[in-house]
Formats: sequence, C-alpha cells, structure tokens
Amino acid sequence: MLNNLKPQAPDKILALMGQFRADPRADKIDLGVGVYKDATGLTPVMRAVKAAEKQLWEAETTKTYTALAGEPAYHAAMAGMILGAGYPADRVAALATVGGTGAIRQALELIRMANPDATIWVSDPTWPNHLTILAYLGMKTRLYRYFDADTRGVNFAGMMDDLKEVKAGDVVLLHGCCHNPTGANLNLTEWAAVADLLERSGAMPLIDLAYQGFGDGLDADAAGTRLIAARLPQVLIAASCSKNFGIYRERTGILLALAPDTATRDLAQGTMAYLNRQNYSFAPDHGARLVTMILTDASLRKEWETELEQVRLSMLGLREQLASELRALAGSDRFGFIAQHRGMFSRLGASPEQVERLRAEHGIYMVGDSRLNIAGLNATTVPILARAIIDCGI
Ligand code: LMR
Repeated sequence: MLNNLKPQAPDKILALMGQFRADPRADKIDLGVGVYKDATGLTPVMRAVKAAEKQLWEAETTKTYTALAGEPAYHAAMAGMILGAGYPADRVAALATVGGTGAIRQALELIRMANPDATIWVSDPTWPNHLTILAYLGMKTRLYRYFDADTRGVNFAGMMDDLKEVKAGDVVLLHGCCHNPTGANLNLTEWAAVADLLERSGAMPLIDLAYQGFGDGLDADAAGTRLIAARLPQVLIAASCSKNFGIYRERTGILLALAPDTATRDLAQGTMAYLNRQNYSFAPDHGARLVTMILTDASLRKEWETELEQVRLSMLGLREQLASELRALAGSDRFGFIAQHRGMFSRLGASPEQVERLRAEHGIYMVGDSRLNIAGLNATTVPILARAIIDCGI
C-alpha cells in the first residue's frame, strides 16, 4: 500500500526553513518564512498573550469540547475586528479553523460543495500554498496579472483586464492587505473598481486576510475587505491570528461567510460546521480563547494594540532603512518600492540565480522568487543585506 505513494514536492517556504537551520554559518540571515522577529532575532510571545494565558490558566475549569464551529464569542470578536463594529451579524456565518491555512482550505471546500465547476481566480503571483491546495482539491484555477515587474507595484490595468473574463459562479481570491509574496497592495479606489467588477460579473470574492495590523494599521488594513463586504451580497473571508497575535503554533484562524439573508447564512453556517466535523471535528481552542479575551478586555486589548503597532512601525522603519541604504549604494531610487510596500514581504525582483548567490555567498536566505521577509532583518543586518544585494548585481 504505502509503496504506491508518489513523492510530493516539498513546500518551498518550509523547505527553506530546514535549509537555513542546517546552515552552520553563524552570520546567516533568515528572510524566508513569514515569521516576525524582534531586533534580537526572537519571535516573542506578545505581552497581552502572556497575560491572557495566565488569566486563562487560573480561570479555566474544563477542557471539554467546545462548539463544533467554535465559540460564538470568538466569532463575534473576530468579525468585529475584521468587519468593524456594527457589522451585519444576522448575515455572517463563522467557523473557527486550524489557522489561516485551515480557513482557506475550508473556504475552498465550501465553494466546491456549492459549485464544483467554479473557477478560482488567483493573483499571479500568490502564496504558493493557495495553488497547491487548489490543485490538491482538483479545483479549476486561473491566474490574473497582479505584479508589475518593472515598477514592483500592482499591475492594476492587467489585473482588471484579466478579470473581465470572470463569470457568475466563479470566485476571485484577493489578499486583504500586505500581499504575499509581493508587498504591493491595492488602494481604496482600486478596491472599489474590483467591487464594481465583482458586482457586474456575479462572482464571489474570497479574501485572505493573514496580516491585519502589519501594513497601515488594524482598521486601515481591513478597509478593502470592509468595502467589499459593504458592496457584495456574498463574501468569504479567511483570516489568521498567527501573525498579528504572534500565536503561530496555536493554529488560530477563522472563516467568515457573509450571506445575502439569514436563511442563506444559516445554510452556510451548517455546512461550515459539517466541514469542520468531516476534516478534524473541533478546531484548536486555546488560541481562539486567548484572542477572544484580548479583543474583549479593554486593558488586554490596549496592551495588544500597542505592541502590534510597535511591530508594525518597526517593520516600516526597517523598510525605510533598507531603501535608504540601497539608495546610497545604488546611487538611484530603484529600490524605493521597498519603502512603499506594506506588510512582512517585498518581492525584490531578483533572478533565481541571484537569490542563490545571496544564499551561497552571503548566507542570506529568501524565497526563490526573491520574496524577502522584512521582519527577519534588524538595524545591523539591513546594511549587510544592502551590500549583498548590490554585490550580487540585483
Ligand atoms: C509565509 O508565507 O511564509 C507564511 O504564511 C508561512 C507559511 O505557512 O507559508
């Protein structure tokens, strides 16, 4: 039996993590996987998370099963954070999931149940796991242009041109903020044009919101999602708490389904709970409980928002520093896009050979498409990276 299995290609991002760990060089720099690191290279447990864990340890009296779709208090806290206070609760179905990846997976399974013929439109490029999950589920996939290799901004004209072919019953996968892997994002005028296009076509948006709070702030990063939610009758949102709460290994995510009416919401809610039961029964509860405590307790929330803002501003500072080092070394502003991009990632626009030279000659690890994790840098490593970029002819 087991000998019939075919070897699977390793995930590019996770394989890079292993390669980095195995590298004996003391001065190696990890700009691969999307994990925040502070100036000392640690991925800290956030202060509010620690405080909530302590409170939870003292107050928790049982670890019996929770609700199949997750706790209603978690749903409400997350829906409020994503959609804003006053969101239409009677139209929102919600499902606790195993991280943001679990939310994407459940969203795609939900779509496949509703319309097995749906074509899922994804940005070119996108997070590689979107494509591998879609292929694994056997779902039709088409790419739309997204990144302008010259400006390193969004190729919005190309995107809209490709999305003209979207049909009713299709799904357009959008990154809510902090586009992974490019760092190039839609502005609000562009989000409005995408909403027009979706309205005209009858397609449904699926928004992947994995970095809320890492770009321009908690509310600003949800502005595109809120615009779409206010305009479209049906919207799926897959959100992650891994990055903004720093609880990567707790696997905490949520799938929200915005329905046109309460009856459809109930239908979606039942189907989503069914999907949890078929795939893994209950989603992990620990992280979801911490998130609920933090979002609903004024003092924990304030502490968390303050620390999240420090994280966001530190990434912006590193972006500014890197762009300015490169401006000085290159004698031009051709790396100015690094300061314009938002979130953890920027696509540098280097060739695979140049990325390999960075690794082999300088011990600097980034994903093969030249995606670098800004949060893997610190004030000392920024000049080292800048010199290596110029040395490799990028
Ligand atoms: C990334 O893109 O590096 C993160 O989202 C982590 C992952 O699971 O790939």
